[in-house]
Amino acid sequence: MATTAASPNVTDADLYLDGIPHERFAELRATPGIAWHPYGDASERGGGFWAVTRHADVKEVSKNAAVFSSALGHTNLWDLEADALEARRSLIDTDGADHVRLRRLIAASFTPRNIRRWEDTVRAITCELLDEFVAAGSGDWVEMVAAPLPIRVILTMLGVPLEDADHLVELSNYLVEGTGEAQSIPADAFGNTTELRLLPFNSPASHALFQYGEKLGDLRRQDPQNDLVTTLVQAEEEGERLSASEYRNLFHLLVFAGNETTRTALSHGAVALADHPGQWRRVLDAEGEERDQFIERAAEEVIRWATPVLHMRRTATQDTVLAGTQIKAGQKVVMWYASANRDDAAFDDPFTFDLGRETNPHFAFGGGGPHLCLGAFLARLEVVVLLQEMARRNLTLRRTSEPVRTPSNFVHGILSVDMAANA
Ligand code: HEM
Repeated sequence: MATTAASPNVTDADLYLDGIPHERFAELRATPGIAWHPYGDASERGGGFWAVTRHADVKEVSKNAAVFSSALGHTNLWDLEADALEARRSLIDTDGADHVRLRRLIAASFTPRNIRRWEDTVRAITCELLDEFVAAGSGDWVEMVAAPLPIRVILTMLGVPLEDADHLVELSNYLVEGTGEAQSIPADAFGNTTELRLLPFNSPASHALFQYGEKLGDLRRQDPQNDLVTTLVQAEEEGERLSASEYRNLFHLLVFAGNETTRTALSHGAVALADHPGQWRRVLDAEGEERDQFIERAAEEVIRWATPVLHMRRTATQDTVLAGTQIKAGQKVVMWYASANRDDAAFDDPFTFDLGRETNPHFAFGGGGPHLCLGAFLARLEVVVLLQEMARRNLTLRRTSEPVRTPSNFVHGILSVDMAANA
């Protein structure tokens, strides 16, 4: 059932400069079985991956973690050498008992109940940024709202002082660049002396983030606070539970995962609201509790529409069959959430931005299973609060530039987009 080089290419990062190549994904979804997608060096592990593009198949791969491993190989498209994989391994690249142990250390902080405790913080940050945006009248939405909001929230939760936020946003931007084709900073930036292949996203910015995390960890060891870094270092001090490398990588993952993804949702959300004024009007026309309920739904649609993480990879631990296609042990299996979220087998009119969508089983946070996004409730809260506060200000956005997109096949980022505020 394997198909060939004739399969449409969906990995060229430049393709994404014009948005997700939806027509190519539609073609892959329509291909019977699972399509084989050439990738990288032909000598490398068969030189490609199985492109899982249908909603039902993404769900099956996500849920069957024993067969589709996150620890073997890597969860990104490219392979890593064994030492690099070990150096870079974080929660997201583990299986079974290791995964449970690491996830348990932080899971309690991300339950809906504990996340609701941050609502006032999220609202205060959102209000400040929106008021500044409205006062300015116009500007780059990403720079003024979508980027600072999630990073300030996650840094507050971690216990990072606000004055360091800009530095960490900058580091995070370099990490995103590392998911594309080229890095604009030299290998020794930020005093880095580690080989890039040993660093997440092959980026010297990871070195800077590790160093920052270690410094903050030391501070919290001496002077514990009510924050996530204290939770992590105290867990570390209990002995074998969290190694120095696990702490570093977890800190890195939380900064990156808690930041870039939600920024992308807030950026695409703003573009979609500006481009579909009738949908935003539905929010403004609703009142009181009805508005709040509508916004909960609207937030899910914004997140589906944005699909900030385009794919995640697994590696088959054994020979298996998926959608009638034979998959061999050791082969890469890549779940394209970008495609699953536009699959008409799962969504009515998937290409319609419909804030009132009643059932919305989107996979923006993953297709279920053990690695389902830990920060999903936090991300939802951020989107909901932003929509509530925009509505409260009667703020309508008008797009005044084309979005400049991130050249990446991994994150669906927007680097900048100008908006004018009609409040
Ligand atoms: C709209 C925003 C977000 C999106 C679209 C998103 C998406 C994802 C996806 C697709 C995964 C992988 C799921 C899988 O492999 O099955 C994931 C995992 C993860 N996300 Fe998020 N995420 C978002 C926000 C956040 C936030 C705010 C945090 C909080 C700090 C966060 C923390 C994590 C962590 C720690 C994991 C790894 C979980 C594990 O391996 O057990 N994410 N996310």
